[in-house]
Amino acid sequence: MDAVEIAGAWTPEEGSRRARELFEDRHPGAPDGVWAAPGRVNLIGEHTDYNGGLCLPIALPHRTYVALRRREDDEVHLASAFEGEVLGWDGALSDLHPGGVAGWAAYAAGIAWALAEAGTPVTGFDAALSSCVPTAAGLSSSAAVECAVGLALDEVNDLGMGGSDEGRADLVRIAVRTENEVVGARTGDLDQSAALRTSAGNALLLDCLDGSARQVPFDLDAAGLELLVIDTRATHSHATGAYGQRRATCEAAAKILGIRTLREITDLDAALAVLKDEGLKDEVEGQKSQDAQEMVRRVRHVVTEIQRVRDFVALVDAGRLLEVGPLMNASHDSLRDDYQVSCPELDVAVDAARAAGAIGARMTGGGFGGCAIALIEADRRDAVARAAVEAFAEHGFGIPRIYVAVPSAAGGRVG
Ligand code: GLA
Repeated sequence: MDAVEIAGAWTPEEGSRRARELFEDRHPGAPDGVWAAPGRVNLIGEHTDYNGGLCLPIALPHRTYVALRRREDDEVHLASAFEGEVLGWDGALSDLHPGGVAGWAAYAAGIAWALAEAGTPVTGFDAALSSCVPTAAGLSSSAAVECAVGLALDEVNDLGMGGSDEGRADLVRIAVRTENEVVGARTGDLDQSAALRTSAGNALLLDCLDGSARQVPFDLDAAGLELLVIDTRATHSHATGAYGQRRATCEAAAKILGIRTLREITDLDAALAVLKDEGLKDEVEGQKSQDAQEMVRRVRHVVTEIQRVRDFVALVDAGRLLEVGPLMNASHDSLRDDYQVSCPELDVAVDAARAAGAIGARMTGGGFGGCAIALIEADRRDAVARAAVEAFAEHGFGIPRIYVAVPSAAGGRVG
């Protein structure tokens, strides 16, 4: 077998050119500028964001580019080219509310509604989007779209959010509201924070309880390491419903424990004992105790995962990057066994990477398909990639796509 092909990212110049060309093809005249926002991988801290927990994403070099021009009326005209397919959407600002717009336009333009709801109304606009963030791969292509358009609208309407981390944290909340209310997915802050608050060379330690963030130098090169992304290209249709159920279970557990978020748990054993006791009350044919056992597993994942983020960052801060593997492995095992959001393709990718000598490997993102990440010694790239491709063939899965993740910059103006 030849060396496994690595799917690269566009340079900012190429992304800019593509968005501009699409703009000029679909709208008369030139755009006011081009903005971009990245996809992400999360190093560790999965399903913790909506529990007020910690997570540690890096931005990818893969970005969504938007060429955009402000209009003086309230019309909105969009064109997009995702994975080669060109689509258009024409409407007005008044259409951009929950239930008023569906599909890709909800991500691309819904943020105009959320900006207005936040007290920062915007004018109509013409836009063209082009992206090299793989879609439906769990790499936050949707947040990249929301945030690229958000940054563009912020600038052409002089709202002043893009220029500071504080302003960007506001824009994160607005983009999350777009996702929660216009798109209708009850996700947390992880993806939009990665798109807007990361910086090149660093991972972002995000505290989802108070919104604070710290840049954590993440120098893979200096340690002779690489981060491989194995895109299983699997998407499971129950993913959205299962995500909502996981969140609802965590919220129900917090309610039983009398706390606002699972982050507030300080004594895990005591909390789990309370949840078990609750399960024994009013038991009807074992049902309640089964629900309680499930709740115990979910809560155990969240609390141990938050601690793994702390431990991971402590190792990175101490220059002991080579020692983070067991934490990545434990994170995956907990997501697979306790949180139950992995799937056969992700497990095969992770097992193959580990067997081929990865320092650590885990699923990243929401789960039920999407991507695994493997931290590897740089000279083992081909061996690990090949092992994943071969394992997929043995299991009768499709060919996985392989990327190399380098901690890249947050979104901003590129042209
Ligand atoms: C998805 C969501 C995020 C986060 C992750 C799991 O990517 O969009 O908010 O909950 O799943 O960590």
